[in-house]
Amino acid sequence: MRESFEVTSSTGRYCVTSGIGLLADVIAENPGMVVVIDARLEKYLPAGVSRKMSIDAIEANKSLEHMPETIIGLRQQGVDRTSHLLAIGGGVIQDIVTFCASIYMRGIPWTYMPTTLLGMADSCIGGKSSVNVQGFKNLVGNFHPPSAVLIDMEFVGSLDPEQVVGGLFEAVKICYARGNEEFQEFLLDASGGALAAPDLQRVVMRALRAKKWFIEIDEFDQKERLLLNFGHTFGHALEAGTSFGISHGIAVGIGMLVAQKYAGRKKWLSAIGEERSAQLRMYIHGLLARCGPEFFSSRSPVDLNLVLAKFDNDKKHRRDFYRVVAPRGDGALELLSEPRNEAVRLEIAAEYESVLGDIGWRYHRAAPRKNAA
Ligand SMILES: NC(=O)c1ccc[n+]([C@@H]2O[C@H](COP(=O)([O-])OP(=O)(O)OC[C@H]3O[C@@H](n4cnc5c(N)ncnc54)[C@H](O)[C@@H]3O)[C@@H](O)[C@H]2O)c1
Ligand SMILES: [Zn+2]
Repeated sequence: MRESFEVTSSTGRYCVTSGIGLLADVIAENPGMVVVIDARLEKYLPAGVSRKMSIDAIEANKSLEHMPETIIGLRQQGVDRTSHLLAIGGGVIQDIVTFCASIYMRGIPWTYMPTTLLGMADSCIGGKSSVNVQGFKNLVGNFHPPSAVLIDMEFVGSLDPEQVVGGLFEAVKICYARGNEEFQEFLLDASGGALAAPDLQRVVMRALRAKKWFIEIDEFDQKERLLLNFGHTFGHALEAGTSFGISHGIAVGIGMLVAQKYAGRKKWLSAIGEERSAQLRMYIHGLLARCGPEFFSSRSPVDLNLVLAKFDNDKKHRRDFYRVVAPRGDGALELLSEPRNEAVRLEIAAEYESVLGDIGWRYHRAAPRKNAA
């Protein structure tokens, strides 16, 4: 069944539609569109697409250094001011096309068809691009919302369990951040496995409608939208500290567990907050189990010195404060400032240790810093 809703952005409104068979329809209805597609997915393109560019969905290709090649590729396809791009792929293709479309001939329209669950349930709305620079991830970016988002649920069929679980972590993060009512509805939708396309469509649309609230009230990340960083500061540090040996979505799931443990240590949660936290924890652990018994145990041990160094370097911190999103009181999320000192650093290390122990991922402890305050 097809379902739609609209998102209002600073540059106008765009429609988000989900269903089956959207790829064939959009190609048939818009033969002039220039397709930019993840190379791995080119085989799914219907015949008759005359102008297309395929790009490997790797981080190196969403770098500022690589943009000239993509822009010249568009030029060679004859893209001009009147052209409309159709981006088909996950977050890497989305970031590349958002950025290129925003600057190509001072900006051209584009439509996005997300193909990963993370793209479908989270990144496809909001209009942000994030581009790497000389190995620094997501260092530059801008806003250039699409003209439309088309979610063809057929793409979930080729995703592996890790990708599905990672997408569900972003989805539950959004619904948890939106408030308890939304979180409880999410758990009902997602209960009983929810891995077949119709169930996933329900979860995707719930997460996107919840995210719509955040991006309409705070399009440019000033206040409410910052809560969607739940799990991200701790998760990014784990991603980067393991040289991206773990996917973003999985890292966010683990990051939410660390944030919860930290809140527990600080006794920030009331009894009801503890209960909601436990619900989220059980959901996350249940999904991690789907990745298989050796998913973590077969990995090299995490070096917590590296993870904490990445945590310390996060661009969202202030000079004297770590900035983290964590649950408080009844479990509602808050953006908190924690003193940036050695004691807090070691407390955070202890929470990583505790979570890694729970999920069965070996680690090397972080050493106290010499001469630390
Ligand atoms: N701009 C934003 O708002 C935003 C938000 C979140 C993440 N991101 C960025 O998105 C990137 C991660 O995106 P992602 O996880 O969606 O995926 P991705 O684009 O990195 O793709 C991950 C892998 O899945 C493959 N793939 C894509 N669709 C598939 C399908 N249907 N079946 C099988 N394989 C498929 C890709 O080829 C790739 O190997 C990161 O670079 C992150 O920084 C951007
Ligand atoms: Zn994320």
